[in-house]
Order: sequence, then C-alpha cells, then structure tokens
Amino acid sequence: MIDGRMQEALNKHANAEFYSSYLYLSMSAYFQSINLTGFAHWMRVQAREELAHALKFYDHVIERGGRASLQLVEAPPAQWDSPLAAFEDAYRHEQKVTGLINQLVDEAVQTRDHATNNFLQWFVTEQVEEEASADAIVQRLKLVGNAPGGLLMIDHHLGERASG
Ligand SMILES: [Fe+2]
Ligand SMILES: [Fe+2]
Repeated sequence: MIDGRMQEALNKHANAEFYSSYLYLSMSAYFQSINLTGFAHWMRVQAREELAHALKFYDHVIERGGRASLQLVEAPPAQWDSPLAAFEDAYRHEQKVTGLINQLVDEAVQTRDHATNNFLQWFVTEQVEEEASADAIVQRLKLVGNAPGGLLMIDHHLGERASG
C-alpha cells in the first residue's frame, strides 16, 4: 500500500496535470480567437494529452491501494500578447512540470517506493519530449517574427499534428 505522503504528492501532481490540460485548452481558445486554427488544433491535442497524464496519476494511486482525491483546478490565463508569448508560456510551464516530476522521483527514492519511481520514469522521458517540442515551436516563431506568411506556414504544419 502506498505511503500517505507519497499519495498526497501524487494527488497534488494529478492536479498540476489537470491544470496543464486547462492551460492548453485556454491557449487553444486564444488561437481560435485569432483564427490560427492549426495552432488551436495543436493545443487541443496537447490538452487531451495532459488530461491523459492526470489520469495516469489517478490510476496509479488507486492501483497502489490508495485514495485518489480531486482538488480545485486553478483558472488559466485567457489571453496572450502573441503566438510567441503563448508558446513561451507553454515552454516555461513544461520546465516547471519537469521540476515537479523530479521532486516526485526524489520522494519516491527517499521512501523506497520502487513502483512509484518506475511509474514516474515514463514522465521523466515524456518531459524531455514536451520541453523539446514547445521549445522547437518557440524557436520557429522567433525565426518568422511578425511575417504573416511564416506564421501561416507554421499554422498549417501544426494543424497536421495527429490527434493521438
Ligand atoms: Fe503532462
Ligand atoms: Fe506537458
């Protein structure tokens, strides 16, 4: 059975993943409002991925004989100054989540919870991917600057993201 403190930390992290989902859905709504439907699609797919992450934590707590508990999900920002500003926020957010995952790994090691440590390794790998994909889009947006042609090209490309 899962340790009480570990359970609390995992439930808290599920909340952070629900917030990620909320944040990216809000970014999707922002992109929709400025008619960048490819960006909006990419963010909507991302929001669904984050929801799946939250459920992985929820399931893990239950599988270990613990009690999943749902907490208040904070409201995300609704507006950004530019597509670049939104993706810079997304990148910063992923870096923050990576830090949280690393803290959970530390706690799993300290409490000798090998099952949770093993469970968390999937997220360690996933965060490398998440940071890299957000950063790649930030770099591309910096490259095109304010040129509408470049922005529409990126929009087309992001619109082709598989729905998962
Ligand atoms: Fe996530
Ligand atoms: Fe993420």
